[in-house]
Amino acid sequence: MSEATVETVLIKNLSQHVDKEVKIQGWMYNKRGGKGIFFLQLRDGSGMTQGIVFDKSEKSPLYKTAEKLTMESSLKVTGQVSKHPKKDEYEIQVSEIEIVSLAADDYPISKKEHGPDFLLENRHLWLRSNRQRAIQVVRNTVINGIYEYFNQNDFIKIDSPIITPNACEGTTTLFEIDYFDEGTAYLSQSGQLYLEAAIGSVGRCFDFGPVFRAEKSKTRRHLTEFWMMDAEAAFVEHAESMKIQEGLIVHVVKKVLAENQKELEVLERDIESLEKIEAPFPIITHAEAVAQLQELGSDIKEDDDLGGDDETTIMEQYDRPLFVEKYPAKVKAFYMTRDPENEDLALCADLLAPEGYGEIIGGSQREHDYDTLLSRIREHKLPEDAFKWYLDLRKYGSVPHSGFGLGVERLTGWMCGTKHVRETIPFPRLINRMYP
Ligand code: 4AD
Ligand code: MG
Repeated sequence: MSEATVETVLIKNLSQHVDKEVKIQGWMYNKRGGKGIFFLQLRDGSGMTQGIVFDKSEKSPLYKTAEKLTMESSLKVTGQVSKHPKKDEYEIQVSEIEIVSLAADDYPISKKEHGPDFLLENRHLWLRSNRQRAIQVVRNTVINGIYEYFNQNDFIKIDSPIITPNACEGTTTLFEIDYFDEGTAYLSQSGQLYLEAAIGSVGRCFDFGPVFRAEKSKTRRHLTEFWMMDAEAAFVEHAESMKIQEGLIVHVVKKVLAENQKELEVLERDIESLEKIEAPFPIITHAEAVAQLQELGSDIKEDDDLGGDDETTIMEQYDRPLFVEKYPAKVKAFYMTRDPENEDLALCADLLAPEGYGEIIGGSQREHDYDTLLSRIREHKLPEDAFKWYLDLRKYGSVPHSGFGLGVERLTGWMCGTKHVRETIPFPRLINRMYP
């Protein structure tokens, strides 16, 4: 077969080309053999395969090329596809190797165990590992699942700004920037307030973008830059909002299970626990959660927010996500409306994931009365000027509405079974790291 007619294919599609000559292009991530035969472990982003170079004489140019290949060299490999005699795997009997770039022979990541600091320092290369690839593929499914669910449920994508004049989630975690003659601007903590404006235009909407928290938290659940999906809907009240969230999570979990079997296998994820995720999700109040925790020996008080450890403890009793609703208003944001049955409580809910993944969604019904909202802004000592536009929304055709925000890294971490959210974002920003 002449060179010109050899088709370039993706490794994931090799099964469609058995006994045919094909070309693949990618990287050699490992090599075994010598003494007349080399087994090249090849990767192209879509999958992995083994290329076999056989030459008893060890003298052919092909063999010499295989011999000099270093780990992570990029290359194009031509050869005939064959099926593994026992496994559902496909190999290539290599007839030609074209080196695109011979890698320096000191690739820092080897098969031996590396510590997390070393791996994070080499994140730009660590991403290539089988496990890290699997996580990014699942993250992609999670993101697509979110878009799919919202598109099927009449939510319009509205992009919110990143540079903002005001806080959304409390002033202690804002990243400040110097904004020309306008003074101080902030990096957005959440697009929520802007979505509240957009519902007056499109009724239901969602956004998806990076958000920033200058939070000095060094936990396995916190990043300083992460990706949030906010959603907001007019005429939707607290209970209905939880139903929408439940539908969203069930949709995403089912999609990951359907599309990412291979990746979940690489991650050694316990699939059974994900298969249990079905509606309806149980709902308890914050007061009930506190009582449960106290019974389990915690010294948490009635008016305390739930900490990460509290969330983990509570979730030991549940195998599907749990809504904890009606937190004390004073531990929550200014914009939440109050429970009509108890003014001290916010009409809100956090959705906690099982297996120790903690809060994945925070949501609430919003205060839609002008005077009440104004007094809340004053109570929280927020700058009235910066919120003028937000108050306008209560002046011109205000309606009851609710929304929520989902942390994509936390949801992806739960799907993948990763210990720390830092593995779920391609380039994590932590309080002590912004390289690479
Ligand atoms: O609970 P949060 O702070 O809620 C809001 O920002 C609302 N304005 C959202 C809304 O109603 N539209 O954040 C929402 C979610 C959390 O439940 C969590 O999953 C994630 O964002 N999150 C973080 N993820 C990683 N690192 C951090 N530092 C996070 N902080 C919040
Ligand atoms: Mg929250």
